[in-house]
Amino acid sequence: MDKGAPFLLDLSAFAEAALIEGARNAQPVMGLTHNFYRYPARFSPAFVRAAINAFTEPGDYVLDPYVGGGTSLIEAMALGRHAVGVDISELAEFVTKVKTSILSENELSQLELWAETLPNRIHIQRPAPRFASYAARGYYKHLDHHSRWRLRKAIEQALGSALTLDSARMEAFGRCVVLRTAQWALDGRKKLPSISEFRAMLGDNACNMVVAARVFRNAAKSHDERPAVHVLNRSAAGIEDDHRLATLPAPRLVVTSPPYPGIHVLYHRWQVDGRKEAPLPFMIANKLDGAGGSYYTMGDRKYPELATYFANIEATMSSVAAIADSQTVFVQMVAFSEPGWQLPRYLETMEQIGLTEMRLPALRGEQDGRLWRSVPNRRWYSDQRGETPGSQEVVLIHRKGAKQPSRSSRSDRVLPRQDRPSSESSGSRSVR
Ligand SMILES: C[S@@+](CC[C@H](N)C(=O)[O-])C[C@H]1O[C@@H](n2cnc3c(N)ncnc32)[C@H](O)[C@@H]1O
Repeated sequence: MDKGAPFLLDLSAFAEAALIEGARNAQPVMGLTHNFYRYPARFSPAFVRAAINAFTEPGDYVLDPYVGGGTSLIEAMALGRHAVGVDISELAEFVTKVKTSILSENELSQLELWAETLPNRIHIQRPAPRFASYAARGYYKHLDHHSRWRLRKAIEQALGSALTLDSARMEAFGRCVVLRTAQWALDGRKKLPSISEFRAMLGDNACNMVVAARVFRNAAKSHDERPAVHVLNRSAAGIEDDHRLATLPAPRLVVTSPPYPGIHVLYHRWQVDGRKEAPLPFMIANKLDGAGGSYYTMGDRKYPELATYFANIEATMSSVAAIADSQTVFVQMVAFSEPGWQLPRYLETMEQIGLTEMRLPALRGEQDGRLWRSVPNRRWYSDQRGETPGSQEVVLIHRKGAKQPSRSSRSDRVLPRQDRPSSESSGSRSVR
């Protein structure tokens, strides 16, 4: 894929080092509201923070077109940037909205009181509300088993309590407390917690989440301009025609992690009792599930050429490119089940869309000159190689329509903000 000299980014040594360090940071995800829900395949806040600091200024717009659990939006707002997130999943929309809500002091005080009394609502001898329409649609699947019905009842009681909260925003927060606790209790667990352990964890989560929401509020409000946030539940394909984005300026940074080619991540289910897939998270969030797993992963990995995947990446990323301008920097973290052919194919797709790859000068001597990171503890499943106990992700950086470098000039500068020419208008284009 290397055709001639690569384009080099002109960043300060500090920003470049921070980006590399952020991408390779292996610390557990923490801080702000990040741990409200463990969204599958979420990226590290340190990485997003470094990208935002390197390529944007306060007041700029940051877009994540595959926003998942909202990591990039939380970091953007905490750094005083406006944030836009798009995701096809209603669960992602729910989680991202709760994590990026700037709650008022009054709401936080009410939630504090609620959190203190929440554990007392869980009592296995008392009745629990049944969410009949969800039960009828099959969202209780795998929960009525004799080893799990007590937890199911505790979850229902906790949800019932969230429904007593005074506003839609507080109810969503309450649901998210239940979501986090139920994920801890059920998803991927060999041994289920007892009801008293569930009750204790529920109370801890509720109190810790109120504290985290206050930290997030203080961070977001510490800037001259209060950061705006837009979370859209839709496909990124066609966003250039979405009226909700029509009046917003072009994003200065697109920072994102799309579904990975050939790699199966279970975004929309929890796994209970081995590999039994439960749709419970949607019920807790009061949302409906879009479709089967391949809906969220851009196609079925059974087909070796991944034609649907690449068609979807092309359709979505062309729309993202259509709302960007020549100043926008695109930073994507991607992994591949078979990097040998999938990475060149991915880069070709970006090129067809009109995006030009940029490299970090500091990495000229490393591997292929790109920013790779290993993910030692993640278990991914790909048809080609079976279960892969570890994997690598790569950070791809692009700009829209950068010119071919001449033989004598080997770098294409990303100008510091004050030197940049005024934004070009972004014409829309049709996508599939
Ligand atoms: C790797 S996850 C993003 C994780 C995120 N970076 C985080 O930190 O939580 C990819 C997301 O892409 C979403 N997605 C799949 N197809 C999409 C599409 N056509 N448009 C927008 N989002 C899509 C999935 O629902 C999933 O949430």
